[in-house]
Amino acid sequence: VTPLRWEGDRLQVLDQARLPQEEAWRECRSGADAAAAIAEMAVRGAPAIGITAAFGLVLDARAGRDLAAAASGLCAARPTAVNLAAAVQRVLDAGPDPAAMEREALALWEEDRRSCTAIGRAGLERVPKGARILTHCNTGALATGGDGTALAVIREAHRAGKLGMAYCTETRPWLQGARLTAWELGRDGIPRTLLVDSAAASLMKAGGIDLVGVGADRVTRCGDVANKIGTLTLALAAHAYGVPFYVALPLTTLDLELHSGDAIPIEQRGGDEVRAWRGVRFGEPDTPVYNPAFDVTPAHLVTAFITDAGVVPPPYGSWPSRGA
Ligand code: MRU
Repeated sequence: VTPLRWEGDRLQVLDQARLPQEEAWRECRSGADAAAAIAEMAVRGAPAIGITAAFGLVLDARAGRDLAAAASGLCAARPTAVNLAAAVQRVLDAGPDPAAMEREALALWEEDRRSCTAIGRAGLERVPKGARILTHCNTGALATGGDGTALAVIREAHRAGKLGMAYCTETRPWLQGARLTAWELGRDGIPRTLLVDSAAASLMKAGGIDLVGVGADRVTRCGDVANKIGTLTLALAAHAYGVPFYVALPLTTLDLELHSGDAIPIEQRGGDEVRAWRGVRFGEPDTPVYNPAFDVTPAHLVTAFITDAGVVPPPYGSWPSRGA
């Protein structure tokens, strides 16, 4: 499964807001189309939105549109994932020749594919035989340019005969776990069990989880982790019950300029995402809603980071360099 298809004069995005009921492709012909696809969650996951934004800029460069305006529209579409702004900057730096920008966008995609493979392999050493792994949101092929991050570790564990069960949290309110992770794993014949977010702590307490593996949208120099809302709750429960808690990421998700997680911009989304689902309203329309898309898990709750340059144990602060 791939979230994106580049066709030279347009980018096709597999509409993840409609999966798994419908496999529909949404066409982007400009940076503004790409920004809308990102904001509306047709494409999501930190590396995948970075790649989408990169091609959005290429489309605007081809059409001779204002690249500064395109870049700021793309970066504003979702502010938390550092991959988005970094990808936009990288493709801008390759410009203004549209062909050079396209080569850069394709290189970025290919590098992410290789990073995913490396993350899967690196994580295997932390997976015990018969492992029951709990994961959150969707960190798979749909979220990246390759096999995924935390989901690449699960895939690699399955290939190596070490996976007992992948537990997927539902991931309210967008249901990335229920709709996307369970679907991806099912297509690949990987054993999976779905649970509501609030069932994770009791499963850990009962001794049913050997490790938790999640992705990241931005990791600061000191190892604080912005990831899908609910990640902090899982980290706290894992800490309370002595379950190892791993964060898988390509080094492109590191933001070495930020020291504390308090400085990470956290995207706030609309109330109807919580009051309703696909037009079916279950909360009163005037109920005020708190709907942050991400939370920040402090570094001390992370057992180790699984990166494309190997496993990084604490204390956090010095990181492998890219390409190492
Ligand atoms: O809101 P989403 O679905 O874009 O959130 C995605 C996540 O939180 C992922 O864990 C993260 O982007 C890493 S995906 C490889």
